[in-house]
Amino acid sequence: MGFEMRVYAWIAMTILVICLSPCLSLEETNGGFCNLYEGSWVYDKTYPLYDSSTCPHIRGEYDCLKYGRVDKEYLKYRWQPSNCNLPRFDGKSFLTKFKGKQIMFIGDSVSLNQWQSLICLLHSAVPQARVIQQGGEPISNYTFQDYGVSIVVFHTTYLVDIEVEKIGRVLKLNSIKNGNIWKNMDVLVFNTWLWWYRRGPKQPWDYIQLGDKIVKDMDRMQAFRYGLTTWANWVNTQVDTSKTKVLFQGISPMHYNGAQWHEPGVTNCARETTPINGPSYSQGLPPASYVLQSMLQKVTKPIHLLNITALSELRKDAHPSSHNVFHGMDCTHWCVAGVPDTWNELLYASI
Ligand SMILES: *[C@@H]1O[C@H](CO)[C@@H](O)[C@H](O)[C@H]1NC(C)=O
Ligand SMILES: *[C@@H]1O[C@H](CO)[C@@H](O)[C@H](O)[C@H]1NC(C)=O
Repeated sequence: MGFEMRVYAWIAMTILVICLSPCLSLEETNGGFCNLYEGSWVYDKTYPLYDSSTCPHIRGEYDCLKYGRVDKEYLKYRWQPSNCNLPRFDGKSFLTKFKGKQIMFIGDSVSLNQWQSLICLLHSAVPQARVIQQGGEPISNYTFQDYGVSIVVFHTTYLVDIEVEKIGRVLKLNSIKNGNIWKNMDVLVFNTWLWWYRRGPKQPWDYIQLGDKIVKDMDRMQAFRYGLTTWANWVNTQVDTSKTKVLFQGISPMHYNGAQWHEPGVTNCARETTPINGPSYSQGLPPASYVLQSMLQKVTKPIHLLNITALSELRKDAHPSSHNVFHGMDCTHWCVAGVPDTWNELLYASI
C-alpha cells in the first residue's frame, strides 16, 4: 500500500512538473503580455457609448453634433487591443467601485476634454442621479451625490506655476504650489504639453525662472523637461501612492499635417471621416512623448502612463474641426462623444 501510494505520488509529481512550465507561461501570456495600448480601431455599431445630446452641458468646444457635424461614422469605432479585450465602460459599476472617492484631472484643455467625457459616460448610466456642480477656475467639480463620487478638473497649463511679479508673468519651472490640493485626491490624471511651444500673444508668461536664474526664453523642449522633472520630484516626495493613484496621460496628438496620413498638402482634419487603417502609424510618436517617457522613469513610486498617443494618432477623423462653438479649425481637441471615451475606458481598466 505504502509503495503504491509512493508510485501514485511520483506519477502525480511528474505530471505536475511537466505541466508546470507551459501552464505558467500561459498565465504570463494572458497577464504580462496584454498591452491595452497596442491594437486597432474596429467598427462597432453598438457605439457610441451614449447619446451626446442627453449629456448635460457639453462644452461648446467639444459638442460636435450640436455644432453641425453631420457625418457620424467617427462615433462607431471601438478600440480593440491585440491580445486582450478592453471591458466596455460600465458607469454604475464605476460609481459603485469609486464610492466616496475623488478623481481629479490636472492639466490643460485636453484634461478638460477627458473630464467632460467621463461625466457624460457616468451621467448616461445614472441619468436620474442627483449631482452637485461647482464650476470655477481653476477647479470644476461634478459630484454624483448618491455615490459620493467627485469628478474634478484642475486647470493648469504647465503643472508648474506662473506667478505675477514686478517684471511680469514668470513661469517657474521649479515650483508646484497647487500640489497640496492634488495630493488629497484618490486618483490623479496629469497632462501637460499643448502650451509649451506657445509664442506671441498666446504665450501666457513673460519670463522663465529656473532655480534663481530668470531668462527671457529657452529651448522649449528643455523647459518641458525641467517642468516634468519638478513634477516627478513632487510625486517622489509628496504623494502617498498607497492612497493616491497617479496616472500621466500621454501626449494627445494633433492632425494638421496630412503628410502624416499619406495626404500631403492637407493642412487640417476638416475632411476626415474615417480612422487611419491598421495598427501602425507612419510618422512614429511625437518627440515630446519620448521626453515624457524618460521623465516618467524618474518617478520612483508606482505610477501609470495612460498611453493614449499611438491609438489617438490613428483618429484623424475624431476632432471637432470647425464643428465647435467658435467655428475655428480645431484638430487638437476631440469630439465628445468620441475618442476621450476610449481614454476613460482605458483609465477604468488601469485603476
Ligand atoms: C505607448 O504605446 C505605443 C504603442 O503601443 C508604444 O509604441 C510605446 O512604446 C508605448 N510607450 C511606453 C512608454 O510604453
Ligand atoms: C467636490 O464637491 C464635493 C461635494 O460638494 C465636495 O465634498 C468635495 O470636497 C469637492 N472636491 C473638490 C476637490 O473641490
